[in-house]
Amino acid sequence: MALRRPMVAGNWKMNGSAELAQDLFSKFARKIKDDSAEVVLCPPVIYLESVKRLMEENKEALSGSLVRMGAQNLSQHQFGAYTGEVSGQMLADAGCRYVIIGHSERRRMYGETSDIVADKFAAAQRHGLTPILCVGESGPAREARRTFEVIAEELDVVIEKNGTMAFDNAIIAYEPLWAVGTGKSATPEQAQEVHAFIRKRLSEVSPYIGENIRILYGGSVTPANAADIFAQPDVDGGLIGGASLNSAEFLTLCSIAMSA
Ligand code: 13P
Repeated sequence: MALRRPMVAGNWKMNGSAELAQDLFSKFARKIKDDSAEVVLCPPVIYLESVKRLMEENKEALSGSLVRMGAQNLSQHQFGAYTGEVSGQMLADAGCRYVIIGHSERRRMYGETSDIVADKFAAAQRHGLTPILCVGESGPAREARRTFEVIAEELDVVIEKNGTMAFDNAIIAYEPLWAVGTGKSATPEQAQEVHAFIRKRLSEVSPYIGENIRILYGGSVTPANAADIFAQPDVDGGLIGGASLNSAEFLTLCSIAMSA
C-alpha cells in the first residue's frame, strides 16, 4: 500500500484578503502540529506576498508541519506580451510550490480547453511547480452517464502531451461541476467511484503513478461531510473553496485530514 500524505488545499478564488491570511496564521500554530497532512493556501496572486511573509514569520511555530503556498492559475507561456498574465517563473519566485490547473471555472468562463490545460501543466512543471490538475463532469454529463468519458478525455489530453511520468509530480483534483459552490457535495461513494477510476486509468500506464498519485476531492466540502469523504480509500484530501474562507472551518478540515 502506498503511503499517500493527505492534502487540504484552500482555493480562495477571487475572495479573501490579507486579513484572512493573518487570521489563519494566528490560529495555525495551535491546530497544525505535525506533518500528517499537507496544507496548501492558494490565495489570489496579489496576496501571495503576504502569505509568504506570514509563512516566514511563523516558521518556528510551524516547524514540523507542512504549510505551503499555491497559485490558482498560470500562463502557458514563459514570458512576453500577455497582458494580465502571470508566468510559472513568477509564481516560483513568489514562493509557490503548487498551482491549480484547469479549474472548471477557468475552463467554463475563460475558454480553457484541455489542450491549453495540458500546456499549463507543462509550464508549471518547467518552473518546478507541482500542478493540481482539476477534472470533473457537469450535471448533465453525469445524468447522461458520461462521467467517466469526460474525466478520461480531460486526463488523456494531459497524458498525451506530457507523458504519464509527468504525473509523478502532480496532484489531481476531482471536482464535479455540479458540486462546486452549490452546497451539494458528491456522496463519499460517488467520490470514491471516480477517484478509483482515475487511479486505475493512470495505473494502466504506470502502476507506480497510479498507486502514488494524490487525488483530492473538491466540491462543497464542509466540516460536516469531510470525514466521510476523506475516509474513502482513494480520496487523499480535499480542494476547498467556500470553507477555506472561514479560518475555523478550514482548520477543522485540516484536522480531519490529519486524522484520516
Ligand atoms: P466549493 O468548496 O466552494 O464548492 O469550491 C470547490 C472548488 O471549486 C475548489 O477549487
